[in-house]
Amino acid sequence: MCGIVGILAKRPVADLLVDGLRRLEYRGYDSAGIATLTDGKLGILRAEGKLNKLAEKLKRETLSGTIGIGHTRWATHGKPTESNAHPHATDLVAVVHNGIIENYKQLRRELELKNHAFKSETDTETIACLLSDYLQQGKTPQQAMAAALKRFDGAFAIGVVFAGHNDLLMGARRGSPMAIGYGDGEYYLGSDALALAPLTDRISYLEEGDWVEIHHDGVIIHDETDKVVKRKICQTALSGKTIDKGEYRHFMQKEIFEQPTVIADTFSNYVTSENTFTLPKLPFKWKDISRLTIVACGTASYAGMVAKYWFEQLARLPVEIDIASEFRYREPPLPANGATLVISQSGETADTLAAAVYAKKQKQYLLAVVNVPQSSMARLADVVFPTLAGPEIGVASTKAYTTQLVVLLCLAVEAGIARGNLTQQQAEKILQALREIPAHINEVLREEEKICELAKSFVDKNHALYLGRGALYPLALEGALKLKEISYIHAEGYPAGEMKHGPIALIDENMPIVVLSPHDRLFEKTASNIQEVSARGGKIILFSDKKGVAAIGAAAFWSMALPSVIMEVAPILYAIPVQLLAYYTAFAKGNDVDQPRNLAKSVTVE
Ligand code: F6R
Repeated sequence: MCGIVGILAKRPVADLLVDGLRRLEYRGYDSAGIATLTDGKLGILRAEGKLNKLAEKLKRETLSGTIGIGHTRWATHGKPTESNAHPHATDLVAVVHNGIIENYKQLRRELELKNHAFKSETDTETIACLLSDYLQQGKTPQQAMAAALKRFDGAFAIGVVFAGHNDLLMGARRGSPMAIGYGDGEYYLGSDALALAPLTDRISYLEEGDWVEIHHDGVIIHDETDKVVKRKICQTALSGKTIDKGEYRHFMQKEIFEQPTVIADTFSNYVTSENTFTLPKLPFKWKDISRLTIVACGTASYAGMVAKYWFEQLARLPVEIDIASEFRYREPPLPANGATLVISQSGETADTLAAAVYAKKQKQYLLAVVNVPQSSMARLADVVFPTLAGPEIGVASTKAYTTQLVVLLCLAVEAGIARGNLTQQQAEKILQALREIPAHINEVLREEEKICELAKSFVDKNHALYLGRGALYPLALEGALKLKEISYIHAEGYPAGEMKHGPIALIDENMPIVVLSPHDRLFEKTASNIQEVSARGGKIILFSDKKGVAAIGAAAFWSMALPSVIMEVAPILYAIPVQLLAYYTAFAKGNDVDQPRNLAKSVTVE
């Protein structure tokens, strides 16, 4: 959620810290701050609002020092004000923190009784005060860190610098990722390797419970029992180049337009031109699997819902799909010979990660579809299926979603063949349709202007409905989510057949109803639902193909004919207009599309 950077160098670090935070700003952007040590003394600079505010402040009030930590925040405890911004410090330590210290109230009471004065509403300040308390008791920074970590409940990652210790940068990980970067005579800490990419490509990851002390002459990693351990240093392929918007207005727009390329890249990573699968080898046979359990959050969970239709129809494999935050606490019984598939762009979403840990404990084979191959989920899984979407910076997921669908459809087809439910010929038909999807997406992208015009009619709306059937029902949910998260218009997704069981009462001339309905075997059913809505004055916005648009005719207030595709790949193609509609509505409203209010990209807290 929040982004953390730490640097121990021999050159001034303030600007480097801000540069690192810039690459992490997608993780949180309501306030930011840095702390450095100059001649052993702590200097701190913090600002409410986007990182630019901090960068401007840094121009006016320079901060020297060759060791420091930085943070970009997504508020959990306490409003996004300057006083709640990280780093939180005492005279002795400065701390940046990602995650939640669940027992902070109890710790705060205990520390207040010892006369520690708190200046913020955050849970993070208890870390700074507890470390100070131990230092005042005569413990070394290392002893203080080891003792403090044993007192915290919750999932977190922290970075710490200590007054008077120019040669010591410390970090810890429990539940939230933390990477160490190895440079030329300098070292780095990052809550995500992306932040460190311009500085180094040599990275190691802290494992669960690890804490680290970084000195000019090397790095010492301790495990949760404080024993010194070694963690492998690996080469990352992450680009150090600035990730920019190119010719586009927003990252989201750029990412929508990247889809033909990244979908083709992802597809050709798993299927050869002769239609042979190059999917990673599984530790089981598809026909031996009793059930597939799919777990994810948000948009990724809607990709999982689409996959349920695919696996059930193409492979006749029973599938359960669950929202990770429910799954993890429901602790459902999982069948013998079951496999669990987690889907995540970041590979760090706290709830999905916890669900993955649970599934492994229940002796499930763990598969992961992730966009960050070095992520915690990827490292936990038995088999990883990377999506080749490249870094997704816009908070609203677009290209990660469609590339997840590509991988999931490939897997469902592979399972279909292996379980004897699909012939080679049927499989090839689907793979061929998938191969053609990038070209069809380009056709839809060329209609951008038309959707931009439509979006203008959404600007004054307070509510919208999205309807779909079959594998397009999850896309209706995704369409509604996209619209609400960036345009702040309340939207709901429904299976079209459910309308008359309640939601139809909402219909009036002010309610746009977006219908996603290719002319497939379910079309006539949806067409009846359209008539029912239209008869009650509802305004139908129809995304279909030529045949469907012609069939609905004037019953639709607005319609667009997409290229005609087989039903298996429609959920991928129909995602494009849905994304464009949300994007242009948010843009027309003047919203911050890439950094919508209250959100952050990577949800590493529960
Ligand atoms: C919505 C969106 C979120 C994420 C969700 C899971 O546009 O991006 O709903 O899909 O937070 O994130 P990952 O995929 O990183 O696990």
